[in-house]
Amino acid sequence: MADFQLDQLKESAPVKLERNGKTVCVVRVKDEVFAIDDTCSHSDASLCEGEVTDFKIECWLHGAEFDLRTGQALTLPANIALQTYQVDIQENSVTVEI
Ligand code: FES
Repeated sequence: MADFQLDQLKESAPVKLERNGKTVCVVRVKDEVFAIDDTCSHSDASLCEGEVTDFKIECWLHGAEFDLRTGQALTLPANIALQTYQVDIQENSVTVEI
């Protein structure tokens, strides 16, 4: 069963998904969808509450940016990458592999 319908995901508006003991932040950018660990690698903040610009999400607490495609930490104070998850899109159905 799909986790989301693509047309219900608003662009650059992160959505939280909890499954298998993990909390993941799911973000649509144009017709692609990315999934990244929700907890910032710098401290205990939810990335889903941050702002998305292009393929980056910015942590609201201290401003670190992460690449949604790779999980790479792009700016301090975070310097540890986050895990990303594969997202399958079949027509309008979006499934996150957690
Ligand atoms: S908690 Fe995210 S940058 Fe500090």
